[in-house]
Amino acid sequence: ERIDAKGQLIAPGLIDMHVHLREPGFEHKETIATGTRSAARGGFTTIACMPNTRPVIDTPETVRYILDKAETEGVVRVLPYGCITDNQLGRELTDFEALKDAGVFAFTDDGVGVQSAQMMKDAMAKAAELGMPIVAHCEDNTLVVGAPVNEGAFSRKHGLKGIPNESEAIHVGRDILLAEATGVHYHVCHVSTEQSVRLIRQAKQLGIKVTAEVCPHHLLLSDEDIPGLDANWKMNPPLRSPRDVQACIKGIEDGTIDIVVTDHAPHSEEEKAKGMQAAPFGIVGFETAFPLLYTHFVLKGKWTLQFLLDRMTVKPAEVFGLSWGTLQEGAAADLTLIDLDTEKEVNPAEFLSKGRNTPFTGWKLKGWPTRTIVAGQVVWSEA
Ligand code: NCD
Ligand code: ZN
Ligand code: ZN
Ligand code: ZN
Repeated sequence: ERIDAKGQLIAPGLIDMHVHLREPGFEHKETIATGTRSAARGGFTTIACMPNTRPVIDTPETVRYILDKAETEGVVRVLPYGCITDNQLGRELTDFEALKDAGVFAFTDDGVGVQSAQMMKDAMAKAAELGMPIVAHCEDNTLVVGAPVNEGAFSRKHGLKGIPNESEAIHVGRDILLAEATGVHYHVCHVSTEQSVRLIRQAKQLGIKVTAEVCPHHLLLSDEDIPGLDANWKMNPPLRSPRDVQACIKGIEDGTIDIVVTDHAPHSEEEKAKGMQAAPFGIVGFETAFPLLYTHFVLKGKWTLQFLLDRMTVKPAEVFGLSWGTLQEGAAADLTLIDLDTEKEVNPAEFLSKGRNTPFTGWKLKGWPTRTIVAGQVVWSEA
């Protein structure tokens, strides 16, 4: 096939190391088929899926189920995370060797985040032994019970319980110390607070093996932007204060935070309609991530295009030691073609994800992917 790429950017395929595909168990929210198509429409060619499915990704059978579905029904590369504890319960470690052999590339507690220090330390020691990273969703659960939004101006105005900054930073600090003790590579999930950025910066200066990720929404929105009690603005971690947003931006700019991820977390319209207090946490991310950051950082002259692409392609591959697709010599390419000129509004009705839960509806953006190529095959095309 001949592709007319006139006037388009040809980029390495985007990589998203933190996504929720919902299958098995929550197919009404998303499936591997719809999730990978949504990823492809967003320009992603490799995505890493979180284990908070049902069953949880805690056995070789479930790992194989996902890899098999991804192969037969998916359109992009899918890397499954293994859950660190049995059924996400925080009681018993999973069989790390068996999960590794079945094909997980890293271990995580995302979607749970309730591990005791001993459990986390054991998990880190085990992962270190296998030379694999631990990716932790950081939150002290005792501080967040029943709180749907950040503790701050918005929570006070609406009389809602707030999630305090320290619920995240306490865990980041703890897990940095445990990483230092065990020698594991600890990757911090979705950093959202000034204090977490500070702790990660210090840890890196000390030579501790820590890396970190941030989501577009935590770089672009604060709790002051939440228009009302609309659950499309509810996610974990929550939108923080403008000061935290600035700290996260500084963090990615100075290299404290290594990569951008979406934390794509689709939910059904009915679930999100339950309101700010009762609706589940999470927003979709694939189909807006690149245009959001291109428009608001590159076009505003804050970042170079190279910087943004690095954080969404080369860096994630480096952080996780990925070596395939465009990054492997001689392999067929993973590429994304992007139209940098045409302005378009975010329209959730066009999403290929089953999830429409985004706070970015109506945003006018440039930088829309037009074609996504995985291993030399066009898997999504705009027309
Ligand atoms: C995650 C999800 O929906 O799976 N939601 C989110 O807001 N990130 C779960 C979670 O980490 O809370
Ligand atoms: Zn999380
Ligand atoms: Zn944690
Ligand atoms: Zn997540």
